[in-house]
Amino acid sequence: MNFQIRIFRDMENLSRAAAELFAEKAARSIAERGRFLAALNGGSTPNRLFQLLATDYRDKVDWSRVHVFWGDERCVPPGEAGSSYGQARDAFLSRVPIPESNIHRIKGELEPAEASRDYALTLSRFASPPLEFPRFDLVYLGMGEDGHTASLFPASPVEVTEPTLPVTAHYQDRPANRVTLTPLVFNQARTVAFMVTGEKKAVTLAEVLSDRYNPEALPAQRISPKDGDLLWLVDEEAAGRLPRELTRNFCEG
Ligand code: 6PG
Repeated sequence: MNFQIRIFRDMENLSRAAAELFAEKAARSIAERGRFLAALNGGSTPNRLFQLLATDYRDKVDWSRVHVFWGDERCVPPGEAGSSYGQARDAFLSRVPIPESNIHRIKGELEPAEASRDYALTLSRFASPPLEFPRFDLVYLGMGEDGHTASLFPASPVEVTEPTLPVTAHYQDRPANRVTLTPLVFNQARTVAFMVTGEKKAVTLAEVLSDRYNPEALPAQRISPKDGDLLWLVDEEAAGRLPRELTRNFCEG
């Protein structure tokens, strides 16, 4: 797997780097292609990033050219706890001057199969032919302790032919019904940035970044952009089990 690791002292420094990445990629994408297509993640890890984008970065981005999508969503209405759209809207999107029409949410209020079909249609409106979906300029992903990413869970099918999938498996204490983008889409992105923090994820992270390839068990290993950058933004705790040869040159404080 080809990737870059950046290790930060804590969540604050990691989030600042993730926000800086957003601003840099937005400026470059807008200069080169006139717009910036970003996919967000849910979970707790991006909370500080969202706050920073809404405050320190509010005036550093041309929001009129930014289009926001999601890598996955829980099938709950936008106003309910668990909605990744609701989370980003409250912390970030409602606080920056992004046009409403540039926010492309997964309709969590629908049944997973219907929401998945609907989102495939949304993606097709931004398609980068011959693909039926866009090449995202930046995708943020999180990783669970079990190696899942977006809503690609262990033991889910590795070979997929669709850009979006309904997910109906029961998963820990989180709502079981979800929609996820698939590696077909993630692996066409120009940049994918994982954000991983905390000691509890250290063993899994070391396994995911090892050369033992087991994508059935570790869905995060399914992410490997074909013609783009794969970036792992991790804190020192999550990096605690990585071998020295991986971490030596990458500590950023
Ligand atoms: C979600 C994402 C999921 C998440 C990881 C990490 O929950 O919205 O689907 O893939 O990124 O579970 O979650 P935490 O950031 O809460 O650890």
